[in-house]
Order: sequence, then C-alpha cells, then structure tokens
Amino acid sequence: MSKGKVILAYSGGLDTSVSVKWISEVHNLEVIAMAVDVGQGEDFDVIRSRALAAGAVEAVVVDAKEEFARDFIMPALFANAMYENKYPLVSALSRPVIAKHLVEVSKKFGAQTVAHGCTGKGNDQVRFEVSIRALRPDLEILAPVRNWGLSREDSIEYAARHNIPILATKEKTYSIDQNLWGRAIEAGEMEDPWVKPPVGIYQTTVPTVTEPSSLVISFESGIPKALGGKNMGLVELISELNAIVGSYGFGRIDMVENRRVGIKSREVYEAPAALALIMAHADLEDLTLERDLSHEKMRLSPRWTELVYDGLWYSPLKQAIDSFMLYTQRFVTGDVRLLLEPGHVAVEGRRSPVGLYDYELATYDPADAFRHQDAEGFVRLWGLGVQTWSRKQLGAD
Ligand code: ARG
Repeated sequence: MSKGKVILAYSGGLDTSVSVKWISEVHNLEVIAMAVDVGQGEDFDVIRSRALAAGAVEAVVVDAKEEFARDFIMPALFANAMYENKYPLVSALSRPVIAKHLVEVSKKFGAQTVAHGCTGKGNDQVRFEVSIRALRPDLEILAPVRNWGLSREDSIEYAARHNIPILATKEKTYSIDQNLWGRAIEAGEMEDPWVKPPVGIYQTTVPTVTEPSSLVISFESGIPKALGGKNMGLVELISELNAIVGSYGFGRIDMVENRRVGIKSREVYEAPAALALIMAHADLEDLTLERDLSHEKMRLSPRWTELVYDGLWYSPLKQAIDSFMLYTQRFVTGDVRLLLEPGHVAVEGRRSPVGLYDYELATYDPADAFRHQDAEGFVRLWGLGVQTWSRKQLGAD
C-alpha cells in the first residue's frame, strides 16, 4: 500500500523545515510542502529547494498575491479593520488564504491530512484549523510543533542531525511574519513590555526622507485605484505605498494585544500602507456615507475585526457582515490627499463626485441655502421630552 500524503504549510523557516522530516518519520507520511506567496518578499526558489532538501517529496509554490489583496485585504479595508483600535490584522488575513490553498492542494494530491507549523500559544493555529475545518470538515490536521516539545536548540540539533538546511542560529531570534499588508515582529527583548523595541528590527519603516510631500490616493467604490494619479493594480499600489510612506518612518505599532488563547502579548508591527490606506479610506467615507449608515458601520467594524482575528474568516456571521460592508462601499469614490512628514501622515484634503458635503448647506456665506426657520421647531420637538420631564418630575419629590 502506498504511503498517505500530507500537505504542510511551509514557510522555509526552522520549525516548518524540521516539521517536514518529523512528520515523515513520526507519522510515516509523504510530505508535500506548500509555500504561499502573500507578498512576504522571499525567494521562493530557495524555499522550494529547502523543502526538498528537508525531505519533502514535492514542493508547491502558490502565488496568491493578487487573490490575497483582492479577496482578503480589500474586505479588511472596507471594514477599516483595526484590532483593538491599533492592529490592521496583518497575519490574521493571510491565514485564511493559506488555509484555502492547503485545502485545494490536499484535494489535488488526494491527501487526507494537512499540517501547519504553529505553536500552541498563538492565534495562528486557531486561524488555520478553524478555516481548514470550515472548508473541508473531514481533513485531518497535524500540528507537530505544538506537540513535539522540542526547544529551539533541540530543533537546530535535529536539523543538523538530518542534514536539513536552515539559516537559524542558537541565539534567540524574533518571530517574524510578513505579507503585503505588513510585518509582525515578536519575542526577544520585546517580551518585556517596558523595553523599547530595538531599532534594528524595523525594515519597512526606516526613515530616509526628510522633506514633507503630498500624495493623492484615488478610490472607486472603496477600492484604491491610483496613487498620485497613476492607475495601478492592488498589489503594485500597496507595495508602492508601503515604500513611499514607509520611507517617512510612518507605520509602526507597539502594543500589548489580547490573543484569542487568553495571553496578553507585546506586539510590534510595521504596516505603513495599511495604516495610510485605512486612514484615507475612512476619511473618504466621512465625506460619502450617510450618517446612520456610517455610524452602524463603525459599530460593526470592531465585530468583523474580532471575528477575523479569532479565526472565523469562514463563518456565516463574518460573511453576512461582509455583505453589509460591501453594500456601504458603492459611493466611496473620490480622492484623498495625504500630507507625508517625517514620522507622521495626516489627511489634508478630500473630494468626491458623489460626496454628501453640500457647500450651500454648510456655508455661513450669503450662498447659504439652509432653511433656518425649520430649525426652531425641530429643536423644540427634539427637546420636548426632556423639557416635559424637567417641568413635571425634576425637583418634584
Ligand atoms: N499577534 C499577531 C496576530 O496574532 C501576529 C502573529 C504573527 N505570527 C507569527 N508567527 N509571528 O495576528
């Protein structure tokens, strides 16, 4: 009988490289390594050959950058998604797309099992497993890193013993996860929340520009379409924006975050394009969304964000809120001009052909078209209940 197959979500790092060998030894399965390009900027030829050298029978690379931007980042932008008001869901968005491809590749290769390299302490295991079970409920899931009890040093020794090529050294390094939407840096000296993140950890927010400038972002129905008047596809636009606003040193986040598994953890992120796009998009919504719609959207946004953070991308509630969010985007069309300064980005102007800002209603100039006489009765009725309460009850005991 031929051996069973397992599709392993492979990053090229120490844990997933050791996992290749471990799974084939301990579980006696053929390992097919699958790497997904979500814009982490790595050399996938190197990753592929590393997987094969670690003992994978096959190494598959999926370019999911466009799909990730269109189907995962855009819904997050529509929702202006910021977990705990600070974190734009960087890693939480990539897990469901990787899970989707794990499931697709499992079907293609006739595998009954998939595997990931997450530890038991993080959110990513939750996101992978809940997503996989939503997409293919009968699939077996292996999480070797969660169960093997190897320390970092043990893993390095295991790799050496089995001739698995790795780059890691025994010194404690950071846990880094990167994609088009940003970069997460954890561990090391940052495990003390009082300690300043070492400056060397930053890569995409290193300040190099000293002179202020302006940048216009153009949106059509909530989707960013152009930078400085130049039309671009989403992947190019987000990459370009990362480079532009990142060069002002903008986009760093340093926070203590509540993980789904009950741990508070100190997290540092770089997300220049995500923060700039959410800022611009939310501002354009202020101009184009009717008041009640806007306020309801602001109430639903944290709920959507929490569901995605908690691994429930593929859930009926999250999908229902998606429909709401998509509906709100119809008229989110126009331009936002950002002022870029060292360490700081702010909106300095916005315009829309379908904006709800009405100069004749807003102005105090002679062009004023507001019906002042209507205000008196409106205000009287608005306050009638409170006025009656005051007259009849306040002070009447
Ligand atoms: N704390 C963040 C989250 O849960 C980042 C996780 C980064 N993952 C990693 N393997 N370093 O979304």
